[in-house]
Amino acid sequence: MLSKKLEDALNEQINKELYSAYLYLSMAAHCEAESLPGFAIWMRLQAQEELGHAMRFFDHVNNRGGRVVLKAIEMPPPVWKSPLEMFEQVLGHEQKVTGMINHLYELALNESDYATQMELQWFIAEQVEEEDSAGQVVDQLKMVGDQATGLLMLDKQLGTRQPPQQPAAGGPE
Ligand code: FEO
Repeated sequence: MLSKKLEDALNEQINKELYSAYLYLSMAAHCEAESLPGFAIWMRLQAQEELGHAMRFFDHVNNRGGRVVLKAIEMPPPVWKSPLEMFEQVLGHEQKVTGMINHLYELALNESDYATQMELQWFIAEQVEEEDSAGQVVDQLKMVGDQATGLLMLDKQLGTRQPPQQPAAGGPE
């Protein structure tokens, strides 16, 4: 059984993961409008992953006898000045999410909730990947600079991103 404190914190995290999905979907819409279809595919898949993260927490709260309470999702920004500014925001956002996951883990440690610690270990590993992939694109965009050819090549490359092989959401047993 989840403690009330952990239940509240996990419900907050569900909201943050749904916001992440909303943010990346907004970025996908912006990329579509800017004729960068490869960037848009990358963002759409990222949004899908975030929805998977939210559902993973959703299932964990339910499976541990908690009660999911969904809150209003904040409006994400609709436009970005450049792909670099956009990806710097992705990286900054993922670093913030890593901090939230670490905080949740500390809470689960303090509450001696071992099942939640195990669930959060998956997210800790996932955040390493999330920060790494966003950081790589930031570096590549810096290399590209103002060169349209480089940007179009990167767009092609990001458009080859594949959906995750296994769904992130666990679902009830
Ligand atoms: Fe759900 Fe990108 O962290």
